[in-house]
Amino acid sequence: PNFFALIPAAGSGSRMGDELPKQFLPLAGKPMIYYTLRALCASPRISCVFVVLAPHDGEWMRHDWSEFSGKLIVLECGGATRAESVLNGLKSARVTSSISDNDWVLVHDAARPCLGKAQLEKLMDELADDEVGGLLAVPVADTLKRSDTGNRVERTESRDKLWQAQTPQMFRYGLLVEALSRTGGIGMTDDAGAIEALGLRPRLILSDARNLKVTYPADLSLAELILRNL
Ligand code: CTP
Ligand code: MG
Repeated sequence: PNFFALIPAAGSGSRMGDELPKQFLPLAGKPMIYYTLRALCASPRISCVFVVLAPHDGEWMRHDWSEFSGKLIVLECGGATRAESVLNGLKSARVTSSISDNDWVLVHDAARPCLGKAQLEKLMDELADDEVGGLLAVPVADTLKRSDTGNRVERTESRDKLWQAQTPQMFRYGLLVEALSRTGGIGMTDDAGAIEALGLRPRLILSDARNLKVTYPADLSLAELILRNL
């Protein structure tokens, strides 16, 4: 089977609160998504990287992407939710390229620019022969509190066996399309959730905190620092 990557990049970044969608905010002089693309395009095992943009994205074409021209395919079919963007992207990827149901797809958030080579290669190594597929994740480090609506602690939750899901999330093309089509991705913020809804159990591959998702303004300077030391 071949490996390819799909990068949902059609969100608006509402929690970031900037007019520009966060994937285009500058990090060390380049738009955030530049680093995301660079991380995936750099892997010799990944034959093609699809990026899913919002249909009327005005920002993408303001930058020069020729560095990735051998591998990158742009799809302008983002939807209202992440799951919709991923499913639309998977379907139109098959129109432009020859993909078989058995191929592996690595879905990776545009908003995770600090993906390291070691984590990416480890994910592919450890899951290449897996029945289901899986995702990068880190064990929860902080103590977890559940609150009432007034932010008063109701109880402390055990963090035993709790993980924070990251991306890439790696599944067979056919299985992922089926999973997302059946569930519609409703109430799901990642791809593994749709696979789980089919009764399957994705594997967690130990990653580290450097592969953070840039969500709030404070994450930008942290991401910049990580990128400089990657
Ligand atoms: N995404 C997408 N299509 C959507 C929503 C999200 O392609 N309709 C992408 C984002 O561009 C991002 C990734 O999914 O790369 C993870 O989503 P998230 O971090 O939630 O980004 P946003 O939805 O843009 O941010 P927010 O939830 O704060 O609005
Ligand atoms: Mg979102």
